[in-house]
Amino acid sequence: MKHLLSIEGLDPAAARQILDRSAHFKQGRGAHATLPLAGQTWALIFSKSSTRTRVSFEVGISELGGHPLFLNANDIQLGRGEPIQDTARVLGRMVHGAVIRTYAQSDVEQFAEHSGIPTINALTDAEHPCQILTDIFTYEEKRGPIAGKVVAFVGDGACNVPLSWIFAAAKLGFELRIAAPPAYRPPLALLQRAGLTHVFSRPAAGDEVITGTAPNGGKVVLMGDPHEAAQGADLLYTDVWVSMGMEAETERRLKDLAAYQIDDALVALAKPGALVMHCLPAYRDKEIHASTFETHAATIFDQAENRLHTQKAILDWITS
Ligand code: CP
Ligand code: NVA
Repeated sequence: MKHLLSIEGLDPAAARQILDRSAHFKQGRGAHATLPLAGQTWALIFSKSSTRTRVSFEVGISELGGHPLFLNANDIQLGRGEPIQDTARVLGRMVHGAVIRTYAQSDVEQFAEHSGIPTINALTDAEHPCQILTDIFTYEEKRGPIAGKVVAFVGDGACNVPLSWIFAAAKLGFELRIAAPPAYRPPLALLQRAGLTHVFSRPAAGDEVITGTAPNGGKVVLMGDPHEAAQGADLLYTDVWVSMGMEAETERRLKDLAAYQIDDALVALAKPGALVMHCLPAYRDKEIHASTFETHAATIFDQAENRLHTQKAILDWITS
């Protein structure tokens, strides 16, 4: 029984298979020779809002021959307090797989354990694995292998998206720089969990830069200066400053992260031809300048479209 609960738990060979098969599903859209989900019903259980993840899974499941069943967590008994274990044991008897968007990572893990059906993390507070697989597929279709490249994440470095990027860098052998204020950086223990063994720090103006490396060339660098992070990077990446569930902190976050906007001046420091990506939804003139967003809209909306193709590769891998 396979699950996709995190990038942390994903075997690098499986990640590579999903990335390579994404191109196959993109090219073959509308003419898939085999329908791996034929006769299957897949539940989508969402406790948080979604446009891309929901639509790409609903369309992807249908196009692979299956039937998607969207369940807003508030409309089922889960929203009234029925335990996740019982929800899992019931759905495991009725549907063939589950795609879950929620808060606690332990909820998707418990669902997988108790349902006995393939379970996919469609975003938790800890990780967004489907997003990062899509992002890497998008990078590679435009620029070739990501191994050895430099990805600069600028903004809230402690939310689900950069955390998944950390595990991806450690597994796939590229450098990830995270530029964020100290309170918005991932804990050092997470770098160790990712297998980044040689963790060391060097002083920087009033701050420190922490570096962890993996034997395959994977590297994660945590720093305060977005300019240093962008220098010579192959990909600049950002995400919202206020993730779902953090709305009460909006005012403080907008203030704390104001210096961490991707704008043209930051992009100018990156490698010529560097890509700019955003997982979306985007807040213009917050985490990304409005005109910078438009300059890179072709990449960003290719990235959004690719959610569909990569979800299909994930579904194909998980059911094979
Ligand atoms: N990027 C992403 O997951 O978008 P949604 O929240 O719209 O699914
Ligand atoms: N970090 C964001 C990602 C949205 C796709 C959030 O959790 O809201």
